[in-house]
Amino acid sequence: PVLVVDFGAQYAQLIARRVREANVYSEIVPPTLTVAEIVARNPAAVILSGGPSSVYAQDAPRVDPALFDTDIPVFGICYGFQAMAQALGGRVDQTGRREYGHTELSVTDEGGSLLGALPDRLAVWMSHGDAVAEAPQGFRVTASTPDTPIAAFENTERRLAGVQYHPEVAHTQLGQEVLRRFLHDIAGIAPDWTPAEILTEQVEAIRAKIGDEKVICALSGGVDSAVAAALVHRAVGDQLTCVFVDHGLLRQGERAQVERDYVAATGINLVTVDAADRFLGALAGVTDPETKRKIIGREFIRVFEAAAADVAKDAGGVKFLVQGTLYPDVVESGGGSGTATIKSHHNVGGLPEDITFSLVEPLRLLFKDEVRLLGAELGLPAAMVARHPFPGPGLGIRIIGEVTAERLAITRAADAIVRAEMTAAGVDAQIWQCPVVLLADVRSVGVQGDGRTYGHPIVLRPVSSEDAMTADWSRLEYDLLARISGRITGEVPEVNRVVLDITSKPPGTIEWE
Ligand code: XMP
Repeated sequence: PVLVVDFGAQYAQLIARRVREANVYSEIVPPTLTVAEIVARNPAAVILSGGPSSVYAQDAPRVDPALFDTDIPVFGICYGFQAMAQALGGRVDQTGRREYGHTELSVTDEGGSLLGALPDRLAVWMSHGDAVAEAPQGFRVTASTPDTPIAAFENTERRLAGVQYHPEVAHTQLGQEVLRRFLHDIAGIAPDWTPAEILTEQVEAIRAKIGDEKVICALSGGVDSAVAAALVHRAVGDQLTCVFVDHGLLRQGERAQVERDYVAATGINLVTVDAADRFLGALAGVTDPETKRKIIGREFIRVFEAAAADVAKDAGGVKFLVQGTLYPDVVESGGGSGTATIKSHHNVGGLPEDITFSLVEPLRLLFKDEVRLLGAELGLPAAMVARHPFPGPGLGIRIIGEVTAERLAITRAADAIVRAEMTAAGVDAQIWQCPVVLLADVRSVGVQGDGRTYGHPIVLRPVSSEDAMTADWSRLEYDLLARISGRITGEVPEVNRVVLDITSKPPGTIEWE
């Protein structure tokens, strides 16, 4: 793998993703790894990420100069660039100035491998205080900015290079090309991390793990569980049974998509449990968001456990449970930096300790984009692979107030209109998701036809995001918003107002509950 050393900024995951986008497998590792431990993992290259420290700080993570005697190609970014310069005998100065945001990079050496034959001026994203004042011996300086005379350097014989700016962020022009050049041209790594390759490797690994045992998977209708199950099915066929719990909080058409399209595409054994009444009963009278989430999570586990017991009885025992855990979850839980629980997330298959399955997590090494590519490679329905995130507790947390069958029908109808109009306008790929929220306890006066109405508002919450940790509200076209508003108020009689949520995250979260 390419090892991305995480110096503590939020950029390491993004760098690891960009490396994968260049068809090279990458993993994130902590800066506490010793050179011997790095060597033991036989990396194709090491990338030193940006970080919040100054190389002058007492507790700043250091780069052991011995790393540069190992022949492993190394790329330094931002803080990593400075740490690399220092470890190699260059000089880093505290300039006292901060360069932050957009800067113009001038390519100063046309023959450089990293930046040569690119436009001489590039818009790049910077975020640093210190600066490299003297490049290490044997290094060629290939770019500068108004505040940073040494903004990129390289030593191609030793396969070492670095940049002061952030090539991994979308605001940096040709950033991906520069990373690609380092990986393919300077480090000489073959771009063979492709969906087909991932599929072959994973199928073998799953077969080796499961053998002849029986395996079960909870499908949610979401991309992760759908791809995880399809992958396991490809590996062990009918040893797998999938359970789909219809909790009655799904959107229009979602159950059919799983029962019809997904089964047709995969040939998977599917058991559907119709539990809508049970969930509605448990939610009766409940308005507190956390309580709703806990009830839905608890009921889900009970229903799934009962279904799993039935499957196990028929199959003569089930040993494994498939979970759609992704790499960011693995990195975040391994990172150990105790982040506050803002909402208790309900994930399908979030089962208690005492349930006696061994876990199969075939997506543990993958980022979301890779899961989608893999889903396409497995032949899953396009609408399913491209689906926006949808929370496990479903419409239960998109009805502000008590959840009732009538309110679910209103929310479902409004949501179906929003999704249809957005798809028709071709904006699905531009947004992360668009929760449609019913303010069930709010009423306002309206006029429709000749009569006064006293209906409910629907909130549209379209957001753009890279990873749901932060988000901005999406600037959808007014004409599209107008069509959505006109259709909802025209076709859903209980709704007489449509409002747009224009809050970013933070301070708002994406969902309302
Ligand atoms: P928030 O509202 O926390 O949402 O900004 C971040 C992302 O997570 C989704 N979400 C959930 N997903 N189970 C899930 O599987 C949950 O309980 C849950 N709650 C929120 C939300 O849709 C957004 O994409």
